[in-house]
Amino acid sequence: MSKEKVQIFDTTLRDGEQVPGCKLDTSEKLVIAERLDLLGVDVIEAGFPISSPGDFRSVSEIARIVKHATVCGLTRAVKKDIEVAAEALKPARRPRIHTGIGTSDSHIKHKFNASREEILERAVAAVKYAKSFVEDVEFYAEDAGRTDNEYLARVCEAVIAAGATVLNIPDTTGYCLPEEYGAKMQYLKENVKGIDKAILSCHCHNDLGLATANSISGVIHGARQIECTINGIGERAGNTSLEEVVMILRQHPYLELDTNINAKLLYSTSQMVSQKMGMPVQPNKAIVGSNAFAHSSGIHQDGVIKNRETYEIINPEDVGVNESSIVLTARSGRAALAYRAKKVGYMLTKVQLDTVYEEFLKFADRKKEIEDADIHQIVEAANINIESIA
Ligand code: KIV
Ligand code: ZN
Repeated sequence: MSKEKVQIFDTTLRDGEQVPGCKLDTSEKLVIAERLDLLGVDVIEAGFPISSPGDFRSVSEIARIVKHATVCGLTRAVKKDIEVAAEALKPARRPRIHTGIGTSDSHIKHKFNASREEILERAVAAVKYAKSFVEDVEFYAEDAGRTDNEYLARVCEAVIAAGATVLNIPDTTGYCLPEEYGAKMQYLKENVKGIDKAILSCHCHNDLGLATANSISGVIHGARQIECTINGIGERAGNTSLEEVVMILRQHPYLELDTNINAKLLYSTSQMVSQKMGMPVQPNKAIVGSNAFAHSSGIHQDGVIKNRETYEIINPEDVGVNESSIVLTARSGRAALAYRAKKVGYMLTKVQLDTVYEEFLKFADRKKEIEDADIHQIVEAANINIESIA
């Protein structure tokens, strides 16, 4: 049975680029946008055109070069923002304007000093105005995570009637629990008239480390778009990580949901974005961290050498990582040492392995991690009569 598709809306170049210290110039953004298109994302949020001439230029250039994905520009619910975004998106084959306004009582009171009714009117006006420029208009209800569901449903209903094609339900502050965020999606599915005319979208921040879990809960409860970034970069603690949601859906086939992403490009894309943005990927980052497929304890190494699946739920090749690594430390056992020794050219008998292992432990106590070059030294120091097979 063919799985239902969840659209991947990549906001690395907009929400991701808001991270302090990771400003990209237009040429770097173009390289990343081309790579995202190749990766298979459905939508590229290219920037916030009114925010600066540089951002306008980037959105416009990205709109010109992207071949497959929809190219999207962010606006506030402000006429001038929408006009500028429409202008920047003119060269796009598939343009989308992403407009919206804060809907939580906190935003309504403190940001806008307005009433719920006034905000609803501004939301509708923004969508109608955006619709006069492009067919594809996404509406975001900023701080939807903390917005009263009944009011949120009224806003959604009104903007669908005004022509919104996608409804973004951001957990802007990363506050929701997965059950709560999923229930919000379900509530909207069940209570918004005309909901079948629009796609519900998850946009989750990671302040409590729940962005990925919330997005998955969102699609389980009816959303069909996830907004995410490469390596999960983004405001404060970041956004939902693209590679995580893609692989969760792929590793759990019973969910019957999938994306259009070419997962074999995930690792190289992660590396590219990390280098261009000057933002290192944490070693224990799921899917793309340098330790994601590295095994260091003796028990795990023994298992993985016998059969990879004992301690790995993803085949590293599926995400573009060449192979799992067996890291040699003082906690490694004989199986790991024999495996790594064979890789550098020594086929050790059981007796030879015992001798080399003694030498290895002495070495490993002095050095944190044993490299290939060290293995040659260790074998030599063991002083056994051995033929290299390399
Ligand atoms: O987190 C958020 O609410 C946003 C919106 C502007 C879409 O990034
Ligand atoms: Zn955001």
